[in-house]
Amino acid sequence: MVIAAEPAALDAVERTTLPSHSAASLTRRSLLRSGAGALAAVAGAGALRPARAAPASVPFGAAIQFEMFDIDAAYRHAFRDECAIVLPMNELKFGLLRPSREQFLFEPADRLVDWALSNGQRSRGHTFVWWSTNPDWLEAITDEAEAERVLVDHIERTADHFRGRLESWDVVNEVMAHEPGGRDGPLRDSFWLQRLGPRHIPLAFGTAARADPSARLVINDYDLEFAGDRYDRRRALTLDLVRQLQDAGHRVDAVGIQGHLYSHLKIDREALARFGRDLKVLGVGLLATELDVIDFQVPGGPDEIDEAARVVVSDFLDGLFAGQRPEAVIAWGLTDRYSWVPDAMPRADGSPSRPLPLDRDYRPKPWFADVRQRLTQG
Ligand code: XIL
Repeated sequence: MVIAAEPAALDAVERTTLPSHSAASLTRRSLLRSGAGALAAVAGAGALRPARAAPASVPFGAAIQFEMFDIDAAYRHAFRDECAIVLPMNELKFGLLRPSREQFLFEPADRLVDWALSNGQRSRGHTFVWWSTNPDWLEAITDEAEAERVLVDHIERTADHFRGRLESWDVVNEVMAHEPGGRDGPLRDSFWLQRLGPRHIPLAFGTAARADPSARLVINDYDLEFAGDRYDRRRALTLDLVRQLQDAGHRVDAVGIQGHLYSHLKIDREALARFGRDLKVLGVGLLATELDVIDFQVPGGPDEIDEAARVVVSDFLDGLFAGQRPEAVIAWGLTDRYSWVPDAMPRADGSPSRPLPLDRDYRPKPWFADVRQRLTQG
């Protein structure tokens, strides 16, 4: 599959205006050309670090929902106390931000982001391009040029509005087919794919890079951590997408592994570690963006459910850290009280799902302590 690039003239502009944190992806090409250069770069990087500095913690974060933030003080306090990163879960999705073509409903996300920043926390953006949660007025557009204008305008205005407040953006979310290489093509059949073809991906990255040169640009997807052919294909295709974007001159700063962990499946720690190493060679970082545990196939009571969660989370972190140091580990919510998991995949026995680090009464699960400890080790 080839994702066509934007015009070379635009790529050239981007290359000259890349912010400093993209140096890694730029130097990759020069490093590959010269082994000596690579050694010098490694030595130089080491020299910048103070001797025997304690490794900094990998930040923990969580996605927050405006409706609950607004009414539930215990919910707010949990995010304030537990997180280094707090991001709007739904408020920046196309359909919520743009109920009509003229509207940009920035207020809920503004309030969440400003609240996080006022607590000394950081925030990030989710997401510009997704197959889901698109408004009817958008999906009614049939003309390719118009769809392109809307996408570019959407990214420009939204990224510009939050410039300096969001450290990174999930530029595209779930653009891979659920089963690439099976019956599906490599990319997910979405509004954007139908109207613009695969080039919607580089178009989104190029536009985001120009609109907020200081934000890190992330490609975000799911099912990248388990053992099996389908997951191998999804890891390989993600690497392929990253390489194609880079070869077309685009900046990709990190891959977001959503980390919706099915606790009845096996994590492929070696494959996940290899994936992280392969990305590192490409100068691309890695983070977990939507960690939670999907326990609908695990029989038993809370203790059995939490033990299965502990194993899957621990194996996931093993694989993640073995590849490269993750930029962050972010949960998709914080308390079992509010989660998409029981809506999408309820437990057959009717008992409550236990997907998140805190239970319904805001008590931490044992596995949350393990996560904390792992992140503190850096
Ligand atoms: C989910 C939210 O958690 C729900 O509140 C919402 O109703 C639907 O979307 N992958 C993603 C997220 O990238 O945006 C989804 O979030 C969960 C799956």
